[in-house]
Amino acid sequence: MLLKGKTAIITAASRGIGKGVARVLAREGANLVIASRDSERLSKTASEIRSETGAEVVPVRADLTIRADVAKIVETAIKAFGGIDVLVYNTGPPKPGAFLELTDDDWDYAVKLLLMSAIWLTKDALPHMIAKRNGRIIYITSLTLKRPLPNLTLSNVVRLSIAGLVKTLAYQLAPYNILVNAVLQGYVETERVLELAKDRAAREGRSLEEVLRAMAGEIPLGRMAKPEEIGELVAFLASDKASYITGSLIGVDGGYVQCI
Ligand SMILES: NC(=O)c1ccc[n+]([C@@H]2O[C@H](COP(=O)([O-])OP(=O)(O)OC[C@H]3O[C@@H](n4cnc5c(N)ncnc54)[C@H](OP(=O)(O)O)[C@@H]3O)[C@@H](O)[C@H]2O)c1
Repeated sequence: MLLKGKTAIITAASRGIGKGVARVLAREGANLVIASRDSERLSKTASEIRSETGAEVVPVRADLTIRADVAKIVETAIKAFGGIDVLVYNTGPPKPGAFLELTDDDWDYAVKLLLMSAIWLTKDALPHMIAKRNGRIIYITSLTLKRPLPNLTLSNVVRLSIAGLVKTLAYQLAPYNILVNAVLQGYVETERVLELAKDRAAREGRSLEEVLRAMAGEIPLGRMAKPEEIGELVAFLASDKASYITGSLIGVDGGYVQCI
């Protein structure tokens, strides 16, 4: 087990990528605090992971766009486990759309969802990691940091700030042995992807099946990832084995992004 006895926070973890990551970290022996907005679904996910792995899993209802909600996440981890070893930041998907379709409110919301939530969570977790002189922060972002996608304006623009955050924090937190990295996943089989595929099918006047086949066909490995395949990288980065990796933006995309 890579993470025996460690405490990890995973946000946006009731389903999709966050849930897959939580499941793998629990299998690797971590105690978890998981957060998202829908308390019923979150509690169901927590009990599923508990019964699959025997891990302690504490759910916290929190909307990542609300400062007071975010504060509850770290507070809960400290109350339940007395400290934090690993912060895995994941968030909800931003609205798709072309630049001309987006309102000022869409931009404000996306900045809260994709940037401020990461800043708030990191601010809250850091004092506890600094006190231990040890910690891992892993931001789950998107391939759009390296390859902007045509209809994902908000993701293409706002998420890039996380790359700056990773590089800056890796430098500033190295003296405390806090390692900071980001995961740039490509297409992963989740409800979000189905939503994007439906949007594309409607715009291109094609069937959903046709679009899903075309999306898989754009990936050199010929298929989308399973959420747990993102979790395997996160577990490694969170473990003592990844002791010299910080400031890295690491792709898990089946070969999709071809720039160097
Ligand atoms: N799937 C992909 O192929 C892919 C590729 C690149 C990037 N991404 C990005 O990766 C992230 C996860 O994607 P996914 O495919 O797993 O999405 P998903 O299946 O739609 O799951 C989203 C998760 O985020 C939570 N969430 C949404 N808004 C939230 C908020 N305001 N506060 C707290 N939790 C919130 C949801 O739970 P509640 O509804 O309970 O809040 C759910 O657990 C997204 O940012 C997405 O844009 C996904």
